[in-house]
Amino acid sequence: MENVLLLYSGGLDTSCMVPWLRDHYDAQVTTLTLDLGQGGVDAAREKALELGAVDAHVIDAREAFADEYLTRAIRANGLYQDAYPLATALARPLMAEQAVAVANEIGADAVAHGCTGKGNDQVRFEVSLGALAPHLAIIAPIRQWNLDRESEVAYAREHGIPVPPESTYSVDANLWGRSIECGVLEDPFHEPPRDVYEMCVPPEEAPDDPETIELSFEQGLPISLDGVGMPLIDLIASLNERAGRHGVGVVDMTEDRTVGLKSREIYESPAATVLLTAHRDLERFCSTIHENEFKALVDRRWAELVYKGLWHDPVRDSLDAAIASVNATVTGAVRVKLYKGQAIVVGRASDQSIYDHGLATYDEGQTFDQQASEGFIKIWGLPTRVARGRQQRPGTDAASEASLQHAS
Ligand code: ARG
Repeated sequence: MENVLLLYSGGLDTSCMVPWLRDHYDAQVTTLTLDLGQGGVDAAREKALELGAVDAHVIDAREAFADEYLTRAIRANGLYQDAYPLATALARPLMAEQAVAVANEIGADAVAHGCTGKGNDQVRFEVSLGALAPHLAIIAPIRQWNLDRESEVAYAREHGIPVPPESTYSVDANLWGRSIECGVLEDPFHEPPRDVYEMCVPPEEAPDDPETIELSFEQGLPISLDGVGMPLIDLIASLNERAGRHGVGVVDMTEDRTVGLKSREIYESPAATVLLTAHRDLERFCSTIHENEFKALVDRRWAELVYKGLWHDPVRDSLDAAIASVNATVTGAVRVKLYKGQAIVVGRASDQSIYDHGLATYDEGQTFDQQASEGFIKIWGLPTRVARGRQQRPGTDAASEASLQHAS
């Protein structure tokens, strides 16, 4: 008899997998449900046992998610394709880690998951599982099933699985945000209906009065909100509520999936949007021009790797080392105004900043040597001047090239 650990959400798909794995693999099925702030985990545990799971584990992984994953995302200004804060993508490698721990504990032969064969999540789970526990087999029932909704419902009824009212969307949620796809959203020209949103109000329903909050950061990590120090998960929960009320954090994008297809996605991530906006601003304030230019390249690469399921590749550690090094001086406060769907930075302060008022001011007491700029410009513009002058030299290749270009 096979011993299978099923990553279990409590939804219809993974519920059908409990009897299905038992019947198809002659397996005893243990389920694992992680609490990442999405709610409903105790109900999932009970349901798994009712469906015949031999054991049902629930692990509160919120703190590990915040401390090991979201801290890195904040320091990396983590946005895929400049827009998606990676809530779903960040959760998958953590789920894989926890699955490996439980699988080893119970002596499982295989891990099963509920991902489809068209998404990124299968890639994320399986790359991580393969890297962390190559001895475990992986079972992805949906890739074998090809069940449409009707046959799935019939299968569920046959096996006494409660069938929830047909949901219009496919949703994944955690502390860092909600990802919504399918249904009418598959028409990229169609405006998302009101019922898509749960964390954020649409801007037209947001209060007419703005609210300004103050965040403090230490070495790139948020440590307090409006002067009150709190653990990251509480800070995120509080910001989700406050920024969501102002409609901050909605993203409507078409995105390029790892498996090659393009999809239309709606995201709600109020806290992530505020924290990433504030962090990026403070980082720019505290870093040199060279650090800022370098950081943008590193951040982009980081987000791509995480999106594409390569959290457990060693190159992510290399990027994190560079990212942490830049963040060593990102300490200070940022004021953010929340107003009708926007998070607007309206102020920043830091002891570590290289902003120098004496250098920047046009008022009395300025310290910048304006005379020196003349020499600087001469040297800075030297290659450009020489290159332009080359075209004026008669009889040179460059001159004929230039005249050809002018003629065409
Ligand atoms: N497109 C997003 C991502 O790849 C969201 C995926 C949503 N997942 C889900 N099971 N509904 O990260």
